[in-house]
This record gives sequence, structure tokens and C-alpha cells, in this order.
Amino acid sequence: MAKKYLDFKFSEFTTNKNFNFSRKKILKVLPEKHLLDAYKVISKWKGYKKTPLVNLRILSKKLQTNNIFYKDESKRFSLKSFKALGGAYAVDKIVKNKKKITVSTATAGNHGKSVSWGAKKVGARCKIFISENVSDTRALEMEKLGADVIKVKGNYEKSLKVCKEISRKNGWKIIQDVAWRNYEYVPKLTMAGYSVMIKEISNQTKHYITHVFLQAGVGGMAAGIISGIAKYFKRIPKIIVIEPENANCVMKSIKFGSLKKVNIRKQSIMGGMSCAEVSLVPWRILKNAVNNCVSVQDKYVPQALTMLAKKKFSDKKIIAGECSTSGIISLISCCSDPLVKRKLEINEKSNILIIGCEGDTDKNLYNKLYKIGNQKLKKYD
Ligand SMILES: Cc1ncc(COP(=O)(O)O)c(C=O)c1O
Repeated sequence: MAKKYLDFKFSEFTTNKNFNFSRKKILKVLPEKHLLDAYKVISKWKGYKKTPLVNLRILSKKLQTNNIFYKDESKRFSLKSFKALGGAYAVDKIVKNKKKITVSTATAGNHGKSVSWGAKKVGARCKIFISENVSDTRALEMEKLGADVIKVKGNYEKSLKVCKEISRKNGWKIIQDVAWRNYEYVPKLTMAGYSVMIKEISNQTKHYITHVFLQAGVGGMAAGIISGIAKYFKRIPKIIVIEPENANCVMKSIKFGSLKKVNIRKQSIMGGMSCAEVSLVPWRILKNAVNNCVSVQDKYVPQALTMLAKKKFSDKKIIAGECSTSGIISLISCCSDPLVKRKLEINEKSNILIIGCEGDTDKNLYNKLYKIGNQKLKKYD
């Protein structure tokens, strides 16, 4: 039954030849004091609540595993994505007690929303740079949080370049989730913020997690979560990184053994993951801590999104944005391939964690994808 369950197929699956998980090395890149401080600060923010860890019982039964847990970040503050933990925490740390400061960032959407929200909380001015690929819905969300949004002609990389130039000229403090030479502290803060998800999970289930599927754009979320695993989990699960097939920079770098840029021919609908290059600090963690990489196609996104909403995987309705679906798509794809399933040692004892990294952060896109997914489902019903 598991073999024929849905027709999701991965584009590519690779194994990391340089795998060598070391808690010590990981916590040297992202020191424990950062992780502890992130939890201490964030858990005191107004409205803080652990996001739910939903058991996807129906999917687990279909795939013949013990448990599949879905960390539902659509419930993260009012921002509906895990990014609320990163940028806003970095703003909090950088701005603390300084008057008349302006923060800036370049973003695909969710990070900028977090920075805008963080700036509003501490009373800082905020300038957000977006590329042509970022929707007006996302821009409006940031404006609603009080940020000035500047649209730049070109892709994400171009928006970051312009952000750096203008910020330097104006003395604005850049709060970026990507690291570059001599710019590592702020991205480390954002990653420390993301580790809060693992701190929460360590108290939300008594089961030892055996497998973790992690989405990657520039790799910050994956590396932040891996740091959390190194700090808070007693047993180390298998770690599988997921990317869109056209933006598989972590996979390419892992295969190559060093950083490798991807030429994105077509932007993925999973906007937050459509990145050409792995960030410097995450790479130091990912290069040895990741067991496998898997890339997936956009075409399965609508169906997975609709099935989550229509309780086809769990007893609970889940609002999952486009990036969130990639966890489901890659897990089902890996289980549909008997060789890969065996290689990953996914079986009836497995407790699998996937990250529902965002909710309907772009409502227009969500509704559009839901409609397409619904049509597809009707054909099967
Ligand atoms: C919803 C969502 N998921 C995943 C990612 C990927 O995170 P990272 O770029 O830190 O790898 C992003 C990045 O913006 C995102 O917005």
C-alpha cells in the first residue's frame, strides 16, 4: 500500500559522503549561549505560545511509520511562519536600548515581515528591500507593520545588493538572515531564534525523533534547527534537507563538497526556498550534519496543500503555505521509493518530524493553490 500511496516523486535524492555529525563542532559554530538566550528572550515576548506539534496519524498509517509529527508554524505569533523567531529576535538584540535606529533587510517575504514586526515592537524605523518576484500581498503585510517597502528590479540577490549599498550610505543597521565575509553575528542570531522550535519539541513529545525533514533556502532554518538538535535532543535523528529542484544549492554543495551556486532558471513557487546560494554560517553546520538531500517539483504543491487543509493526513485541519508542503511531498516521495525508504531506514518504528514552516502567509497565492489542489482531488474522489 505504501508503495502506491499518491504519485509524488522526488527529482533527486543524494547521500552526503562527508557526513560526520558532531555536537561539539555544531555548537562551536552556533554557541549554546546564543541558543539559551534566544529561548529566554523570545519566550518572554507578549503572546508567546509553543506552536502545535500535530500528529499526522492518517499519513503515518499510510506510510507505515510509528509517528509523523508536523510542527505547525502557521500559529507562530501573528506572523504565520517560523521566521518570526529569527529576524525579530535579531532586531531585539541589535536595537536594545538604542534610540533613533533604522533597521533594513532584503527579503523574499517572511524574513522581512519578522524584521518589520521586531522593529515595530522596539520602536525602530524599518526599510525593506524586495525583488520583483515578491507579491504585492506580501509587501502590503510589511507596510501594515510600519515598514517602508522598496521594490528593486531584478531577483533576490539584486535586492540584497541594493539593500547593502543604500543601508551603508544611510547608516542603517542591516538585519540579514544571510551571512557574508565579516557579517556573521546577525545571521547567527536569526539561526539561534529558529532553534526555539526544537527547544519546544523536546518538551512536546516523549518519542525520540528518528528522522527530520528540513526545508532549505539559504540554509538558515535547517542549520538553526540542527543546532537545536545538537543542544536539546538526546538522540540524533537522520537529517534530510529538502529543496525545490531548480534551487537545490544545498544539494549541489553537499555533492560537490564545497559551496556551489545554482543558476535558477525558473523561480520556484516555494518562494522562501527559491535561493541560489547557501549562506556561509549555515554551510559550516550543514556540510557534515546532513545525511541526505532531496529535491522536489512545484507541481505537487497544490495537492499537498489542499490535502492538509481537508484533513487527509491528520484529524486536524492544517493551513500550510507553499513551503510547508515540501515536507509532506518529500517524505511521501522517499517512502514511495523502496530503495530510498530502506536506505533512510524508515519503518514502523520511525518517529518522523516535518516542519510546517509557514501558513497562508500570502493569502492570494494560498487560495489559488487550494483551488487547483481541490480540482485535482475531485478527480480522485
Ligand atoms: C516559509 C519558509 N520556509 C523555508 C525557508 C527557508 O529558510 P532558509 O532561507 O533559512 O533556509 C524560508 C525562507 O525565507 C521561508 O520563508
